[in-house]
Amino acid sequence: MMYSIAIDGPAGVGKSTIAKGLASRLGFTYVDTGAMYRAIACWALDQGIKLEDEETVSERIDEVIISIDYKNGIQQVFLNDENITKRLREEEVGKGASIVSKYACVRDKLVELQQKIAKEKSVIMDGRDIGTRVLPDAFLKVFMTADANVRAKRRFDELCLKDDDCDYNTILKDIKDRDFADENRAISPLRPAADAVIVDTSSLSEDEVIEKIYGLFNSRVK
Ligand code: DC
Repeated sequence: MMYSIAIDGPAGVGKSTIAKGLASRLGFTYVDTGAMYRAIACWALDQGIKLEDEETVSERIDEVIISIDYKNGIQQVFLNDENITKRLREEEVGKGASIVSKYACVRDKLVELQQKIAKEKSVIMDGRDIGTRVLPDAFLKVFMTADANVRAKRRFDELCLKDDDCDYNTILKDIKDRDFADENRAISPLRPAADAVIVDTSSLSEDEVIEKIYGLFNSRVK
């Protein structure tokens, strides 16, 4: 039996940590779709294409081949055969991804790739439109939420372990800007699917969230 679990929600809510934890517990493949939008941003930046230039992105999108593979269980992203995984978390790339993810040509291409992957194996896929568009028939759909201040505080704590120079208000503004962009784009805006279970993680630990979703999955299997 093959299963798919869709995890959607805003930036910084902890989707990837939870999805990875669940994937290893259930033996499913974790698919990080944000990384694919980030890969398209890398391509545009490398090609010197202005991110705001939708026409050129759309004319040249067929030049891009994105693929994913796994190394020691960790998703690796290839852009025209080059492993670009290390670059994906760069600030510039994240900002670029939120611009190119508005374009229909980019979304169509990546949704097709994501659907193809989910046909081949049991997946836990995280993103913004997994329950609404990519996997409308997912076995379980979860929409994770948490107050913007809670998300900013979590990111602040994480970043400040590595960098003394980080500023809480900048992080909070960034999260709110990203939410606004994701919720207000014309195509596939961020919103829960009608049949998604909303999980508010504001006052839950990582383990508690994993336990809760694992419980939801098991109760449906029975
Ligand atoms: O989850 P993330 O920060 O890696 O996502 C990067 C950007 O891509 C973010 O602005 C939202 C967008 N995205 C999207 O539009 N649809 C998805 N399924 C995943 C990410």
